[in-house]
Amino acid sequence: MHARLPLLQPYPFERLRALFAGVTPAALTPLRLSIGEPQFPTPTVLTDALTAHVGGLAVYPLTAGQRGLRETLAAWFCRRYSLPALDPDTQVLPVNGSREALFAFAQTVVDQTQPAPLVVSPNPFYQIYEGAAILAGADIAFLNQTAATGFALELASLSEAEWRRTQLLYVCSPGNPTGRVLDLDAWRELFEYADRYGFVIASDECYSEIYPDEARPPLGGLEAAHRLGRSDFRNLVVCTSLSKRSNAPGLRSGAVAGDAALLKAFLLYRTYHGSAMSETVQHASDAAWRDEAHVVLNRQQYRAAFEAVLPVLAPVMRVYQPDAGFYVWAEVPGGDDAAFARDLFAATHVTVLPGQFLAREAHGTQPGRGFVRMALVAGLDECREAAQRIAGFCRTQA
Ligand SMILES: Cc1ncc(COP(=O)(O)O)c(C=O)c1O
Repeated sequence: MHARLPLLQPYPFERLRALFAGVTPAALTPLRLSIGEPQFPTPTVLTDALTAHVGGLAVYPLTAGQRGLRETLAAWFCRRYSLPALDPDTQVLPVNGSREALFAFAQTVVDQTQPAPLVVSPNPFYQIYEGAAILAGADIAFLNQTAATGFALELASLSEAEWRRTQLLYVCSPGNPTGRVLDLDAWRELFEYADRYGFVIASDECYSEIYPDEARPPLGGLEAAHRLGRSDFRNLVVCTSLSKRSNAPGLRSGAVAGDAALLKAFLLYRTYHGSAMSETVQHASDAAWRDEAHVVLNRQQYRAAFEAVLPVLAPVMRVYQPDAGFYVWAEVPGGDDAAFARDLFAATHVTVLPGQFLAREAHGTQPGRGFVRMALVAGLDECREAAQRIAGFCRTQA
């Protein structure tokens, strides 16, 4: 057996099930804000293409995907991030969702012949980064993101020796769960560190298309690199996905773009890993990436949910308006996030995720402790109803 498998931590939803074991919720309609799974329908532009190309199931797909899809992806990245060009043959690859890409990327870049390889992750974070590091044979170190610093990455918290061991840094922008978007100054600093210590940055941008202001889409890693004169995207890859953008988490479709040398190695790894995307899914993805109308509609719905929920919650708990994404990251009254989530579930049948399940103790603090994450993925009425039940519950805690 792989010696590091026992090092993998239980997944947050497993811990949530354990927390709720034996709890009987109030006899109200269940409202789940715990999982970041869009509840809006998958757009017909995608599903029509899927059924029209079902014949694609009869062929083995290429790991690199069809050139047409890579062209569509390159064009999307250029449009979205104001890039002059992206080479569809070397700078972009389709992947089966960002999760598998984020995991597989660590397996590609971590060099176990170097002493004590280190992977660095934000904290709180998406748990795949940690599992990817562990199974790639690396240690993991954390950069806390706390309210005290506006959820900035605390780069100075790692020692010189730790940065020298660092081979891969994950960042998540817009962040899950904080909703924080890295700005150009943050990117400048990240690139300085990457150059100084010779590590690679994997930027998880799967929430990039959910944002409050149509006129101000969040900055992405490729755009930042380009604006800072790094148009070869050296030492950088970004992962994006249709799961949230196009309400298609079951499609398992995303893309990776950036440094051509890294993508060449990644493609080699993927060929053996067996992660080619079905041609049927490629056609559906192609149609989805070409269409922005359904994404604009999605954003309107998320915006309405935030407008309905935040004013209800703000008087009873400290809520942090996210720069982007569909999560509310909020401080619970009393400070015990696990007890809050459990008692809220019992009293109101609303499920939220305790922040401590999304973070690790690091640098003397557990940055998820005292927070809960709420995913505003349901319809407007359900979000509103959930907010009212939560507010009512908070008032009973005072
Ligand atoms: C931060 C983050 N990254 C990546 C993913 C994976 O998304 P997918 O594999 O569906 O693209 C998720 C899913 O919730 C996520 O929250």
